[in-house]
Amino acid sequence: MIKFENVSKQYERNGIITQALHNVNLTIDKGDIYGIIGYSGAGKSTLVRLINYLEQPTQGHVIIQNQDLNQLSNNELRHIRQKIGMIFQHFNLLQTKTVFENIAIPLILLKEKKQIIQKRVYELLEFVGLGDKAHSYPKELSGGQKQRIGIARALANNPDILLCDEATSALDPQTTQSILDLIKKINEQYQITVVLITHEMHVIEQICHKVAVMEKGKIIECGNVIDVFGHPKHQTTKNFVSTVINDQIPIGVVENLLEIEGKKDNIRLFKLEFLGRSASQPVVNELILQRKVIVNILFAHMSEIQKNVLGSMFIQLKGREDNINDSIHYLREHGVQVTEINHSEIN
Ligand SMILES: Nc1ncnc2c1ncn2[C@@H]1O[C@H](COP(=O)(O)OP(=O)(O)OP(=O)(O)O)[C@@H](O)[C@H]1O
Ligand SMILES: [Mg+2]
Repeated sequence: MIKFENVSKQYERNGIITQALHNVNLTIDKGDIYGIIGYSGAGKSTLVRLINYLEQPTQGHVIIQNQDLNQLSNNELRHIRQKIGMIFQHFNLLQTKTVFENIAIPLILLKEKKQIIQKRVYELLEFVGLGDKAHSYPKELSGGQKQRIGIARALANNPDILLCDEATSALDPQTTQSILDLIKKINEQYQITVVLITHEMHVIEQICHKVAVMEKGKIIECGNVIDVFGHPKHQTTKNFVSTVINDQIPIGVVENLLEIEGKKDNIRLFKLEFLGRSASQPVVNELILQRKVIVNILFAHMSEIQKNVLGSMFIQLKGREDNINDSIHYLREHGVQVTEINHSEIN
């Protein structure tokens, strides 16, 4: 659906060259909600501006629905752009126009008939849950309502692709959630492919199927959200993942441990990581009942991503050495990643 082939993009200003994208390869399939995450300046907005060809690549090809954008005439580009909607962090609504007029703009540009525009705008207002706001002005709306209008405008042309550049960054957590739910509904109901840029991992966690992590113009890691969250490889990815999945023992627990257990040597400490199937099995129960070890759960954290449970747990095992070793073997056999932690390592 959307393909980047060896795409590089340089900007030049006053003789200074910025390499905003460096040899990017990425495939976004039809129907995906594809998240692009990275710190400020990583090149995320540049990447989406290439999808609607607001920017041209310095090198490489951007291919949309099997058409190489470099090779299209202006007319063909206009057609492709009509099938791409975009929403922004600051909504970009025209302040002097009513909500109705803002949503109608793309349809007026297409020279649609008045009755068709009227019907479509009211349909869209209903869809985004603001059927009663047609005659309001943007300044009379809350941030969340403005973004709903931005979304309605982006959907006016029945796009195949929706680009969201930090669309929830100016909103509070509850409003963010409602906008993400709306984007999910758009994806599911209309099979619109969504490319969603963010610097917040919880946004990716909530609705994305796939994610690409960007740093300094490069994609450093990409794949299914559950795989990237479960096994982040690059340090930057690990930093992002740690903002939503807490896999460190809280400091209070560490202090307690050092005080109470640090001196004893018949207790071993482990970090267990669960992903998907392994998270739904009663493995800890099995250790207690069958492996005859005492399990002390120090800290556990679980998240649900794309209907998969992902979690980490810190436990102490107490018992006979062979039973503990047997327990570890059992856990690994059941897909749990087990790492032993030395008591002396944790302070
Ligand atoms: N029009 C431009 N002219 C010159 N340099 C630009 C232009 N647009 C972006 N850049 C530079 O390209 C790099 C990537 O910018 P980009 O806006 O794509 O980053 P971003 O990941 O979207 O960042 P943010 O999270 O802050 O929005 C930055 O170094 C930026 O300064
Ligand atoms: Mg940006």
